[in-house]
Amino acid sequence: MKILVVGKGGREHALVRAVAESPGDHELYCFPGSDAILELARPVGADDLGSLVEWMRVNEVDLCIAGEESYLVKDEGLANLCRQHGIPCWGPPKESAQLEASKEFAKAFLERHGIPTGRAVTVGSLEEARKAIAGEYPVVLKFDGLAAGKGVAVCPDEATAEAFLDEVFTRQRFGAGRLLVEECLSGPEVSVFAAVVDEGCLVFTPARDYKRIGEGDEGPNTGGMGAVASRQLVSAEVLQRIEDEIVVPTVAGLVADGLPYRGFLYFGLMLTDDGPKVIEYNCRFGDPECQAVMPLVEGDLADFCHAGAGGELKPELLRFDEGWSVCVVMASAGYPEGSRSGDRIEGIDEVEATGAARVYHAGTRRGADGWETNGGRVMAVVAGGATREQAVEAAHAAADQIRFDGLQRRRDIGKLHFEDGGAPTSA
Ligand code: AMP
Ligand code: GLY
Repeated sequence: MKILVVGKGGREHALVRAVAESPGDHELYCFPGSDAILELARPVGADDLGSLVEWMRVNEVDLCIAGEESYLVKDEGLANLCRQHGIPCWGPPKESAQLEASKEFAKAFLERHGIPTGRAVTVGSLEEARKAIAGEYPVVLKFDGLAAGKGVAVCPDEATAEAFLDEVFTRQRFGAGRLLVEECLSGPEVSVFAAVVDEGCLVFTPARDYKRIGEGDEGPNTGGMGAVASRQLVSAEVLQRIEDEIVVPTVAGLVADGLPYRGFLYFGLMLTDDGPKVIEYNCRFGDPECQAVMPLVEGDLADFCHAGAGGELKPELLRFDEGWSVCVVMASAGYPEGSRSGDRIEGIDEVEATGAARVYHAGTRRGADGWETNGGRVMAVVAGGATREQAVEAAHAAADQIRFDGLQRRRDIGKLHFEDGGAPTSA
């Protein structure tokens, strides 16, 4: 098969590797890719969505896998264009990807289908926002549009809420747009991924990411400084509730609303005292959760996605390792406020040579002397184990071998939130 993966980050490196390791003789392509991805996949002669889809048509690509979300909602939409040209696509059309692109759309969908989520109202002005908050704190404020990961504020008091309202409505930092005023939920967070094929779905291994830059969940939010994945992350009983009360009703809701869906669907959940509730949907796999989950997936991911894109759910093609996987992200100097490039990276070959861990590249490039940093989150080291402790130890030992100037990493990935042993303990 000719398979093309869309994206360029750590998640796409993990997807490309999983597809490359699938049985069968596949020709892999990636757009736009990265130096590391293009060691496994061939580059594509395209520079935008239109030319990409045209390239796929001319080159008779058998399967397009959407890694990142941006192309799903851009212009006519990646999946919509693929469909027009008869190219099987693993990723939803633009109208369904609104579940991720618009928080207001997602909230209305959740309410319409009776899926557990925080109560919320949508407002369009400062006055309406203040009225909706009604002096009740804590409250969560969510800008309804693209805000480069800065659009959500969990506000413990009036001062933080007023500061965020000022950014949204007075200074219009994110441009024009509406705001969700949402009930503040509490409990451990968990990311659940389902492969959705029309009215059917298969739930993958759950994961939990670590969003803050600093140990102890301190400091600003980032794209993700690490993740831990395991079937044992949540009890069998809670996982069943998640499937019955959230995943299955979501898939049924998509069908009822006439929203076609074939691809990964990401449920950002909070395990509250009242049961699991949806915080957000994403129309793709998580990053860095994908890097943690993929090493636990055995079988034939390439064929699974190909069958799914064609409308056939084939769970028998995949198996999930029952153990644990821990993913430690290494970020460049200055991240997340800024980022630095051009620092020489050492230790990658040593880590890969042990066979005990995998290195997934995100912000790296090939320099004259080998791998160097290319800004932001540079790479992730991932290791597994039968127990969480084994996976934690192996991942951090492997991460210790990677060196570059200004390297930032958290040493509590896989440990924080598990102080009581088994399931995650706190938010
Ligand atoms: P989002 O951008 O929607 O993923 O939200 C970013 C983070 O804000 C989440 O990972 C949660 O930690 C937090 N968050 C979002 N919604 C809520 C909520 N209703 N209650 C408490 N925390 C929330
Ligand atoms: N790990 C969070 C995300 O992928 O959005």
